[in-house]
Amino acid sequence: MDDIGERIAELKKERNAVILAHNYCLPEVQDLADHVGDSLGLSIAASKTDADVIVFCGVTFMAETAKILSPGKTVLIPDPAAVCAMAQMCTPEQIRTEREANPGLEVVGYVNSTAACKAEMDICCTSSNAVAVVSSLEGEGAIFVPDKNLGSYAASKCPSKRMVLWNGFCPVHQSISVQQVTDLKAAHPGAEVLAHPECRGEVLELADVVGSTEAMLTHCRSSDRDEFIVLTEVGMRHRMERSCPGKSFYFPESAVCGAMKMATPETVATLLENMDRRVELPADIVDRARRPVQRMIGGS
Ligand code: 13P
Ligand code: SF4
Repeated sequence: MDDIGERIAELKKERNAVILAHNYCLPEVQDLADHVGDSLGLSIAASKTDADVIVFCGVTFMAETAKILSPGKTVLIPDPAAVCAMAQMCTPEQIRTEREANPGLEVVGYVNSTAACKAEMDICCTSSNAVAVVSSLEGEGAIFVPDKNLGSYAASKCPSKRMVLWNGFCPVHQSISVQQVTDLKAAHPGAEVLAHPECRGEVLELADVVGSTEAMLTHCRSSDRDEFIVLTEVGMRHRMERSCPGKSFYFPESAVCGAMKMATPETVATLLENMDRRVELPADIVDRARRPVQRMIGGS
């Protein structure tokens, strides 16, 4: 272990802290984390940990979700400017207006949203359980916020549900074009194509497998193929290469999420030293957001 790794290990012990990192984080951050995963896996890890302190390497909505699930714990984020662009594309007022305009529809919200928006939702979902959440609805259907691409993917898998879609999107996944995919397929004709459901519909149509970051990884581990075109953020390469030695992964290299790269080993060490950059949420927001978030992870 290098110097900074040793410092972080000591501080972690001293603070009784756990480090969670999303699959898109820098390789060196993933390597120092206790858990690396997708939004659902990390939310579950945050809800189950015995640690007093959760250091969340990812974007702010992920750290906020950890705080909603574990309000008694100290949740720290290495850089509070690490904001997911899609989470800013919807407001609580807009959700209330949409709900009034569509009586009878439940509000299903993607976890990539602010805590204040989650407080307006009936149930939250991630990319790994959006289809299951929509198909489990007992009523006529749902208003799905904020991701139009994930919403239309879930709608296509649940044709009996009426879905009102929001107009939000992830700029990183939205920027992946049909031309990029066609070029990657021409360069690697034997590769299987995996896509994140935040991609445009026309890109998803070119994929063999659609799933969350963790679902893509699980597929690559068990597939008998050894080449994969992976249509998501490039940070995913590190876990794939580490988990599947001997297999090759090709990415649209321009798909980079700046917010996910803000955590570094240095910022994690400084954070554990200073114990600042705490996630604080208004108590009423935590109270109202708890039920939809707990339903998302399979709780009551
Ligand atoms: P996953 O939950 O699939 O890891 O996705 C999170 C995310 O932000 C995708 O852009
Ligand atoms: Fe948000 Fe897109 Fe970055 Fe994921 S990749 S955190 S959806 S901006």
